[in-house]
Amino acid sequence: MSTKTQTTTTHYHIQKKRRKEFLEEWRNYRQTVIRKEDVKLEKTARGLRTGVFMGWDGDRPTRCLDALVHEVDPGVTTTVHRHSWDAILFMVEGSGWTEVDGVRYDWKAWDAIHIPAWSWHRHGNDGDKPGRFMSYSSEPTLWTLGMSLIEDAGHKPFKDLPPKPAYSGGIQGDEGVIGDKGTLGIDAIDQPVEQIIEIRHDLEGCDGLEPASRRRRTDSS
Ligand SMILES: [Fe+2]
Repeated sequence: MSTKTQTTTTHYHIQKKRRKEFLEEWRNYRQTVIRKEDVKLEKTARGLRTGVFMGWDGDRPTRCLDALVHEVDPGVTTTVHRHSWDAILFMVEGSGWTEVDGVRYDWKAWDAIHIPAWSWHRHGNDGDKPGRFMSYSSEPTLWTLGMSLIEDAGHKPFKDLPPKPAYSGGIQGDEGVIGDKGTLGIDAIDQPVEQIIEIRHDLEGCDGLEPASRRRRTDSS
């Protein structure tokens, strides 16, 4: 009996077609210039007014980075939250403050603040006019990897908030040298994907942590 493949369509061709369709789909989402009128600010449950410049919930989905604008009104203190991605805030107008892991930083236009992954943070405004800032985050990358997690703790004091989730135990196997930059467990290269997914399952076991939903971030409830 012959075992020779009779079809001309190989697995390679199927994958190549799928990737072409995937790239074409995502190219169609691209919008090179986003104008002020394209972005609608809406009140959020966290206490901000937020609009999406680039991101899945702004009708301009992205796979790696997103960009949002936020306004915090005078007298407002938002709820405190943390997430598995990091973000950079760039202050564009007015003034306010941002608390990161219990440390308060006052800001004004042109300041920038880095929010590391898993840092508890919230915003406030003691001034008399709204403070506005942009946020740029790697949430879409984490979502693509199935590791986009978020937790909101309401107005709980920082001292009562849980610590960062524990890191995984690290890569198992023989150490191999990668140039002069560092090492890699060579045996881990052949590890099944399930081992990586387990990290996420560990995180899901933490109280309150849950995968970031695809609910629009500008929803008020
Ligand atoms: Fe955040």
